[in-house]
Amino acid sequence: MRHVRIFDTTLRDGEQAAGGALTIDEKLEIGRQLARLKVDVIEAGFPFTSPGDFKAVELLSRELKGVEVAALSGFKREQIDATWEALSGAERPLLHIVISTSDIHLEHQLRERRESVIDMTREAVTYVRDKTDHIEFSAMDATRSDIGFVADVFSAAIEAGASIVNFPDTVGYAQPEEFGLMVRQIVEQTQGIEDVVLSVHCHDDLGQAVSNSLAAISEGAAQVECTINGVGERAGNAALEEIVMALRTRGDYFKADTRLSSVELARTSRLVSNYMGMVVPPNKAVIGSNAFAHASGLHQDGMLKERTTYEIMDPADVGVEESSIVLGKTSGRHAFRDKLERMGLELGETEFSNAFNAFKEIADRKKTITDRDLEAIIQNEQHRAFHQTFELVHVQVSTGTGSMPTATVKLRSDDGVEHSDASIGTGPVDAVYQAINRVVNVPNRLTEFSVSSVTEGIDAIGEVTIRIESDAKVFSGHGADTDILVASAQAYINALNRLLAGLGKEWTATLESNAAAAAVELSGV
Ligand code: KIV
Ligand code: ZN
Repeated sequence: MRHVRIFDTTLRDGEQAAGGALTIDEKLEIGRQLARLKVDVIEAGFPFTSPGDFKAVELLSRELKGVEVAALSGFKREQIDATWEALSGAERPLLHIVISTSDIHLEHQLRERRESVIDMTREAVTYVRDKTDHIEFSAMDATRSDIGFVADVFSAAIEAGASIVNFPDTVGYAQPEEFGLMVRQIVEQTQGIEDVVLSVHCHDDLGQAVSNSLAAISEGAAQVECTINGVGERAGNAALEEIVMALRTRGDYFKADTRLSSVELARTSRLVSNYMGMVVPPNKAVIGSNAFAHASGLHQDGMLKERTTYEIMDPADVGVEESSIVLGKTSGRHAFRDKLERMGLELGETEFSNAFNAFKEIADRKKTITDRDLEAIIQNEQHRAFHQTFELVHVQVSTGTGSMPTATVKLRSDDGVEHSDASIGTGPVDAVYQAINRVVNVPNRLTEFSVSSVTEGIDAIGEVTIRIESDAKVFSGHGADTDILVASAQAYINALNRLLAGLGKEWTATLESNAAAAAVELSGV
């Protein structure tokens, strides 16, 4: 089996998804989980574009072990210097530089001739080579470029010292057969390609990102760039879980595999979905809630006789298992800590105490606490721990047929002051949100609201994911509780806290201030 490297860009390209902004703590949590998943590379950010990204790359470089950490840079020296400053603390840093190669980008954005692009490539890679020998070079908009020209640019990059060359379908334009052919031409026409890793990076504008990535692997690509749940700019990037499981399930066809620990896929998917506020559709391949649900009588009959009649993957292989029943209301701190450790969940002392209290409170209302419940409780606590301007102290709702839904809330602000207010609403959730609005008082619009249950049963924990819009920016929020009105209140406060922390604002402001210098690098990336 040939080894295909998995370059995860959830924290860079994925985070560029509208409304997908993450806090630095969330990035670290996701980074740790990606390391547990055993991806080969974690692209942690684009340091030159924002101080937030700079800090995140610096932190993840320092904290993550046993995995390569990459950061994206433009080709200018000041951009490379800043990127290296953020990245150099990593165990195995990978500096990723990008230059456009399509005539469309050259004419309208870069305003350079093809020959200059080759010179700029050589100069940038040579400049990076003084700092590190682990360099990835990407040709932006490669699939709409002259392939012979991309091969010439790659040849120059390799001669100057690049160790990986990346062929992106930046705008998701290519079709699988065509993409495979382009990759073959790159292999045939690039000098020195046999000494470096050939990578691809596909976007999903026409729904072909995964198929294109797999077509490239068949033509010899040794690295694919992808994101958890396929999150990313516009329609997103190639979905990591789909590529990994296609290779694992069809090893007979691809003769290639990754070193991923696929049992971590479901948990990683949930973590990213919750932190980014992007709900995974039930029919999503591999990790959707219906991916292993058999509804037709004929299929159920087959499944009962032999699982493989209608199942090509074992759900246990992607981490979708019947959660084991573990703890209940009589369980103590010791059992709780032991269970978290066995689930690979690491918490600091304060976080642990808060999580234990939340567990006890929920265990009072729910007979059995499964692994999935625990995961939801922990994630909820982590959400609450991140930049809390307001915290929910109390919510009470009165509703029913023929009555006017009325909610009372008590919130605590970070200066310790408690604020109470009440409101009526068109429904109970609306009443809660109106009451919270009376305290927090930040104009915004609720654009998405979804509730799902963590496990089955009437006493299941409900998870609420929402999105709010303010000043043309989108903020997500997440909450979990056996009472969905409490979960709804938590989700709204979580989203408001992100809004108040300016998450997303800083990014845009820096983009504006760096626009002139970084315009070329930012567009379409
Ligand atoms: O889509 C793109 O071209 C990119 C590059 C930076 C690889 O994200
Ligand atoms: Zn991209």
